[in-house]
Amino acid sequence: VRVAVLISGRGSNMASLVEAAREPDYPARIALVLSNKPGAGGLETASEAGIATAVVRLRDFPDRAECDAEIDRFLREHRIDLVCLAGFMRILTPGFVQAWEGRMLNIHPSLLPKYKGLDTHARALAAGDAEHGCTVHFVVPELDSGPIVAQSRVPILPGDDPDSLAARVLAAEHALYPQALAQVARGEVRLTEA
Ligand code: GRF
Repeated sequence: VRVAVLISGRGSNMASLVEAAREPDYPARIALVLSNKPGAGGLETASEAGIATAVVRLRDFPDRAECDAEIDRFLREHRIDLVCLAGFMRILTPGFVQAWEGRMLNIHPSLLPKYKGLDTHARALAAGDAEHGCTVHFVVPELDSGPIVAQSRVPILPGDDPDSLAARVLAAEHALYPQALAQVARGEVRLTEA
């Protein structure tokens, strides 16, 4: 199973997928890392690991649909089976999402359906929650809303601030995403019609 990881920044989740996929019995390999930001740190990590990289910037296209068509071309050129969004900070068009429905995952730093969108750690702290975590889900056109593949929970501890909580959640993300991708790549978890 050939996987593309879409990133916008540091790419630590992408790196955890690359690391996991090095294991001989892992059911997927990372064949492409694509960023919408030319300066994304993760691009260098990926090149160093010998993985093909691409940059597709929205500003180089007349509209979002044309930009997403270019992403789709890269995915098909690299014969990609599954797409993993990992800190990809651009909303994809419904047409693109529908074309990859059931074959595209995202990781989100909250226990969905709580705290869709941004600033999840600060919001969990402000709500006085006792626990927080991360979710891997299938991508559907509505943001952070698709069927859940897997979740991982972490405690919120006295004295936590958004940064300390984010670090705890990120460590959980790095364990969760490779495991969730493996389940989907093996066909153990599938998106079905409602
Ligand atoms: C992660 O917390 C991810 O859940 C969120 O953005 C962050 C990306 O980090 N959507 P990285 O680029 O994978 O290091």
